[in-house]
Amino acid sequence: MTEPSSAPRVFIARRIPDEGLRLLLDGTDADLWEDELPPPRDELLRRVAGVEGLLSLLTDRVDDELLDAAGPQLKVVSNYAVGFDNVDVPACTRRDIPVGNTPDVLTETTADLAFALLMAAARRIPEGYDYVRADRWQTWGPMLLLSPDVHHATLGIVGFGRIGREMAKRARGFDMEILYHDVQQASPEDEAALHARSVEMDELLAESDFISLHTNLTPETHHLLDEAAFARMKPTAIVINTSRGPVIDQRALFEALRDRVIGGAALDVTDPEPMRADDPLLTQPNALVVPHVASASHTTRGRMAEMAAANLLAGLRGERLPTPVNPEVYEGR
Ligand code: DGY
Repeated sequence: MTEPSSAPRVFIARRIPDEGLRLLLDGTDADLWEDELPPPRDELLRRVAGVEGLLSLLTDRVDDELLDAAGPQLKVVSNYAVGFDNVDVPACTRRDIPVGNTPDVLTETTADLAFALLMAAARRIPEGYDYVRADRWQTWGPMLLLSPDVHHATLGIVGFGRIGREMAKRARGFDMEILYHDVQQASPEDEAALHARSVEMDELLAESDFISLHTNLTPETHHLLDEAAFARMKPTAIVINTSRGPVIDQRALFEALRDRVIGGAALDVTDPEPMRADDPLLTQPNALVVPHVASASHTTRGRMAEMAAANLLAGLRGERLPTPVNPEVYEGR
């Protein structure tokens, strides 16, 4: 007869890179969801029953229903992402459960992709590639695939946190003028170092050639870019979104692209995800969509895995998580 394991039971909602997974498999009694797709809701609720730790992904909703299904022994939720809009943090806090995320390690990788999307959309790279693949390239054409310049253009950054600032650094290399909008203004030193100027949202929308979103998804930022916002933009403006899909009203974006209210959009995130191939947005030649891969470099995903494992293991030991999103759970402990 095998002895029951004394290691804490945890549920890992998807296979994550080995850098973190190994630590979890060694240190816990882990139930690993091996499928490429997320666990269906009823399966998730069933599998979390009785666990002390949960490693969730942005595809798993962590709310009162799930916390009830898990039970009062649940000690920690570690979210394998910097964003945590899939987690009802106040619900966890009410139950004294710390929630961890993976900040910092993905900042530059995400900004790299945001800038790649900006370049690709501006210089019409997907259209050029399609043109060659369709065997339409007959000669060098003076009017072929003309595009706006990136260098010396104006970039409007919405959300001037870690990733927004990295975006500013990249834009500097292209001599762009940088505007930003954030509820918290950067210090004069940071503004000077990043050559960035704080403006009201209306000014940012009206003046920017490129608008890149780097804000969290909150009730305040839900549908931040809606029909009225698109109407304020330049007809050539290109919108880049590597934050969360619902920050854009996608129906309004489709209409703005279709009616040439704006020049283009390049999205890493959509609403809903995944976007299906028959989504109307994909009928627009000036829309570019990739499947939520901004942090998807080998190194970064490995670091995220290490960090998510460190959060989970600390929570299981009753220690403070290295990166808690609700540090208030430690007040008065
Ligand atoms: C995050 O971490 O929030 C990204 O969207 C996925 O890496």
